[in-house]
Amino acid sequence: MARLRSQSWCILCAVTAMTVAALTMFLIGQPTANAQDKKAVSFINDVAPIFKESCFACHDAKKRNGKLDMTTFEKLREGGANGDPIVEGKADESELYTLLVTHERRRMPPRDKGEAVAPAKAALIARWINEGAKLDPDIDPKADLVKELRVRWRPPVPPLAYKFPVIINAMTFTPDDKQLVIGGHHELTVWDIETGKLVKRIRTRAERAYALAFAPDGKLVMAGGRPGQEGDVRVFDLNAPPAQVVDGVAMLNGVDDPKVMLKQLVDTEDSMLCLAISPDGRRLAASGCDRIVRVWDISQGVVQARLEQTIENHADWVFALAFSGDGKLLASAGRDKTAKVWDLESKESILTFPDHQAPVYGVTLSADGKLGTSAGADRNLRRWNAVNQAKQVKAIGGHGDEIFRLVAHPKQPLLVTASADKTVRLWDANSGNNLKTLQGLNDHVYAAAISANGQLVAGGGYDGEVRVWNVADGKVIRAFNASPGYAGSSVQAPKQ
Ligand code: HEC
Repeated sequence: MARLRSQSWCILCAVTAMTVAALTMFLIGQPTANAQDKKAVSFINDVAPIFKESCFACHDAKKRNGKLDMTTFEKLREGGANGDPIVEGKADESELYTLLVTHERRRMPPRDKGEAVAPAKAALIARWINEGAKLDPDIDPKADLVKELRVRWRPPVPPLAYKFPVIINAMTFTPDDKQLVIGGHHELTVWDIETGKLVKRIRTRAERAYALAFAPDGKLVMAGGRPGQEGDVRVFDLNAPPAQVVDGVAMLNGVDDPKVMLKQLVDTEDSMLCLAISPDGRRLAASGCDRIVRVWDISQGVVQARLEQTIENHADWVFALAFSGDGKLLASAGRDKTAKVWDLESKESILTFPDHQAPVYGVTLSADGKLGTSAGADRNLRRWNAVNQAKQVKAIGGHGDEIFRLVAHPKQPLLVTASADKTVRLWDANSGNNLKTLQGLNDHVYAAAISANGQLVAGGGYDGEVRVWNVADGKVIRAFNASPGYAGSSVQAPKQ
């Protein structure tokens, strides 16, 4: 009995002690959880990500609300109108912390503009200030923190089997027309067309691939990124020796293995969405959310790409690029509802085609560069004069919904469109006539590709399903889901 009583006293005692401790913590503003955590708070790993998430939108070099730029450590310490917002060792006297937890009107982010910083995150910032507000030793105080965070970010390893179907945004045939390379989640996957089987997986830093094309030297160029975080154009060698082979599937590391990931051509702050290689194989162009079109000379091989010019001609994201047959003109299309043609030699804009009045997702130029074709959210394929004035020649309907992709065969007069209406259509590039409507997909089609020999067309989109059709008769010759190991696929794993 006595024992029991003393035990219950002890429990009571512990509870009381804990309550007192919690109350004390509450009063002095120290979080219980972090108090036991011995490791010092790192500015770059713990604090800067919170600033990026909640503060940089208003406190970067451009916006500087309150005259405060927080995107370098040095600028942060210079502070804004009120000077250095940090009193080292004293979070409660530092505006950088007090403004986050204040119950008064003036809070950061401003009450009418955003959610308060979560208490655990604010506590972490307090701890960092109380520990002396130190910058990690390997970081230059002048370093751009957005860039530092990007460099430190590590891509996840894709799962062996996908739980959800991947959204396909890009695909291309291998130069021998035997396989399809398809954008997965932080990887590219390679599928054998004959068998419909997965043969290779290549890890990528990019979460998504938005455009894929083989350069004349057989290297694969990918434009992609992580939405709102980073974008890049990279060159891969898919024939490099695999790091391992799992169940007959060659696994390549396109993140760290320099034999696989040969070169990064750009590093931007949002996704790269499109690329094009000139028919003579001498030039590569790429663009995306930053609106800037970059053109490289790749005549010495794509790894030796040399930046030739950067073009700022669109007011919004650039969705598509295409060279003329002689490689002298470059057409572009974008979210600013226009298609444009740029003269690469005189380095000037030749014309703007405005008739879509909706985002333009695809563009091509005829071999002689005189006829432009574009397609987009207005559901129309529009053909227009690409010399002198951008006069519309013809608007061609047919698709019942937005057209997301327009692909032209580099030599044959064949155009392919992919649409939200779940179909892929073939068009005669000379007459503009619809040749065939390819059925068999059951969701939005975002990606399409034509084989080098012009005999096959592939499409895929929102549900990860892929169809390969014969151009000659429009029949499906292969069907699979491009999500590795995905059990929900009707094609790969038929229900018993
Ligand atoms: C939606 C825009 C917005 C966001 C997001 C925002 N701020 Fe501010 N911030 C302002 C404005 C406007 C001012 C100037 C008015 C003021 O001082 O109250 C300001 C001022 C400040 C100041 C005072 C600068 C000085 O010297 O006067 C500090 C410190 C500050 N913000 C920190 C932060 C932190 C930390 C975050 C992120 C947790 C943040 N802000 C997020 C708009 C924003």
